[in-house]
Amino acid sequence: MIRTVLTGTGAALPRRCVSNEELAREVDTTDEWIRERTGITQRYIAAEGETTGSLATDAARAAMEDAGCSIEDIDLIILATATPDRTFPATATTVQHALGGKGFPAFDVAAVCSGFLYALGTADSMLRTGMAKRAIVIGSETFSRILDWEDRTTCVLFGDGAGAFILEATDIAEGDAATAPGVIATKLHAQGEHCDLLYVDGGPSTTGEVGKLRMKGREVFRHAVVNLAQVLTEVLDDAGFAAGDIDWVVPHQANARILDATARKLGLPIERVVVTVDQHANTSAASVPLAYDLAKRDGRIKPGDLVMLEAMGGGFTWGASLLRA
Ligand code: ACO
Repeated sequence: MIRTVLTGTGAALPRRCVSNEELAREVDTTDEWIRERTGITQRYIAAEGETTGSLATDAARAAMEDAGCSIEDIDLIILATATPDRTFPATATTVQHALGGKGFPAFDVAAVCSGFLYALGTADSMLRTGMAKRAIVIGSETFSRILDWEDRTTCVLFGDGAGAFILEATDIAEGDAATAPGVIATKLHAQGEHCDLLYVDGGPSTTGEVGKLRMKGREVFRHAVVNLAQVLTEVLDDAGFAAGDIDWVVPHQANARILDATARKLGLPIERVVVTVDQHANTSAASVPLAYDLAKRDGRIKPGDLVMLEAMGGGFTWGASLLRA
């Protein structure tokens, strides 16, 4: 059977780091309020010239170096973003060009904060059905460009960045399914009835303007905890594992309180959850691969570990993926 194996990871952050204190000089907020409600202490903000595409390209380069491959070995790029460089073409195609790739499919996936899980699920399906052999899957965002900097309830929560995975189709024996590395199970969901709880108030087909992010934070919080606990249980059941088997959870980094509440619901100690929201804030589709890359490079995630990735975002969309490192 074919298994999709994660052979390399990479990340990229903008050069400029903005602390809560620095933000509080421009926005009517305090370091204390942001820390207490969200766990965030700082975020990275893209400067002129730094774009979703440039961050994605840097993260993809780092991931290829980690995997020991080059663009000639790649035959698919999927990029998850809600902040593309342009309405079209897909930012994935500009990344392909910047990396020196030609001919193979490259496209964007839009599922906001769950975008990376959607991109991973799509790549996994394409690799297992033989449509591609080795993929770069990227989550990259410049949310700072769609924030309403006059709205203190949202602008303090987000940051910019990118993370990338190299995924390879690999043959494994049927009997090794539980122990072999790679993606074991993925579940994705959407419920469009909640599309007005978290959205951008613009678009090419409506206002003709890009628009700004709007969110009903409390309601998003409530749905996030319920939906994430449900999808995590679903993936574990599907894969035949229990919560106690998980070595690491790499969640979408929206808010430290959502991470705590989700871990509690699953009965997992918070020590097994990779937390980067304090350093990066919410980087939407970039947060899962950014957090994974950090935990792999600092030695927390080791080969053979069972790792759960999960995310929830606007739509609502949500999903989870269980893989062995
Ligand atoms: N600084 C200071 N005060 C603030 C700020 C701020 N930045 N923002 C809001 N306040 C004030 C409000 O005005 C309000 O004041 P009032 O009581 O005098 O009216 C008070 O703080 C409480 O505001 P709430 O919005 O009720 O605060 P809450 O405790 O719900 O926390 C938060 C807000 C952090 C957004 C929370 O609802 C949350 O984490 N929601 C989850 C949403 C999320 O993380 N979304 C990310 C995208 S979706 C995803 O990734 C899953």
